[in-house]
Amino acid sequence: MSEQTQGDSPWALSARQFPVDGNARDRLLFLLRYAILAPSTHNTQPWRFTVAPERILVFRDRARWLQVADPSQRELHVSVGCALENLLIAARAFGYQAELTYFPQHLGADCAASVLLYPPETPVRPKGGLLDAITRRQTSRRPFRPRAVPADDLRRLQSVCGDHRVMLYLTDDGGVKQRLEKLVAEADARLFAEPAYRQELARWIGDGAFGTSWLLSKLGQVAVTYLNVGAKTAKHDTELLNSAPEIGILATHDDDRTNQVRAGQQFQRICLQAVLAGLGVQPMSQLCQVEHIRGQLGRYFPAPDARAQLVFRIGYADAEQQPMPRRALDEVIG
Ligand SMILES: Cc1cc2nc3c(=O)[nH]c(=O)nc-3n(C[C@H](O)[C@H](O)[C@H](O)COP(=O)(O)O)c2cc1C
Repeated sequence: MSEQTQGDSPWALSARQFPVDGNARDRLLFLLRYAILAPSTHNTQPWRFTVAPERILVFRDRARWLQVADPSQRELHVSVGCALENLLIAARAFGYQAELTYFPQHLGADCAASVLLYPPETPVRPKGGLLDAITRRQTSRRPFRPRAVPADDLRRLQSVCGDHRVMLYLTDDGGVKQRLEKLVAEADARLFAEPAYRQELARWIGDGAFGTSWLLSKLGQVAVTYLNVGAKTAKHDTELLNSAPEIGILATHDDDRTNQVRAGQQFQRICLQAVLAGLGVQPMSQLCQVEHIRGQLGRYFPAPDARAQLVFRIGYADAEQQPMPRRALDEVIG
């Protein structure tokens, strides 16, 4: 991934740059500048888009799929869902009506969504809200401060999830947290004991996916490949989890690709609502990467068929030093 200077940073995006005088395609391309700021597992950005005058197609990019960490492609779909939701939020903020179809069969196995977009009759000036949060969101990797999340903010996090097929469990229960800490430690130990898992992670670190300099990326790649850093990672991750005033789990009834995309959409909405409340969010995906641990997470939902899609911690922390890199828009259009 090439290094980005501040001037050409994809994060330096403002609604004022919307090409009011541009053609229909220019405007849809502008909406996609918001889509690509979505979070994704290992910052793989496993998405591609095609743009027609009134429609954007969102594809999953299986060349960027984590075959070892994510054999079922759940995280691939969750990541695509995050990008799709950014696109929809941006489109609606600029006055478009959006008509969404998941995995339209006639467009091939990799087309995750077709989004028909009806433009407004006169240009609409966005009012901020979730749209503005897109450029301010970053995954929070620091320990959180010991400060409880107010009930009103928790209610807003719940209500921003507008999809009845996706369930959100939020908890500050010390017992649940302790249990999850144990499971995080177990998951990290198991995953890092697998050379193939470390090799895959190392490849993305080495490619600079996490925004480190060339030298640090290469050093990180060597360390993760050859050292079993499982115990160290487990200690660090349990401390991170322990510092969180709130834990969230997203689950769906059906564990298919459409529901996984839907879960990603709701995760993105939670992240953006969290930004508005001054909160940070960090997924702890190791908990779902080990199947037998993932199987235990359904117990937190009233539905007996609940399948966890993502676990994350929520709390207050200082901003990360620099935003993570993104592939340029032209690299993902085609
Ligand atoms: C499905 C999914 C799983 C993720 N798992 C983790 C994780 O286990 N730990 C973590 O620190 N970040 C995790 N992330 C966050 C990504 O690492 C992050 O989005 C990516 O590096 C880009 O950084 P940004 O979110 O700050 O833009 C995950 C994101 C997604 C969408």
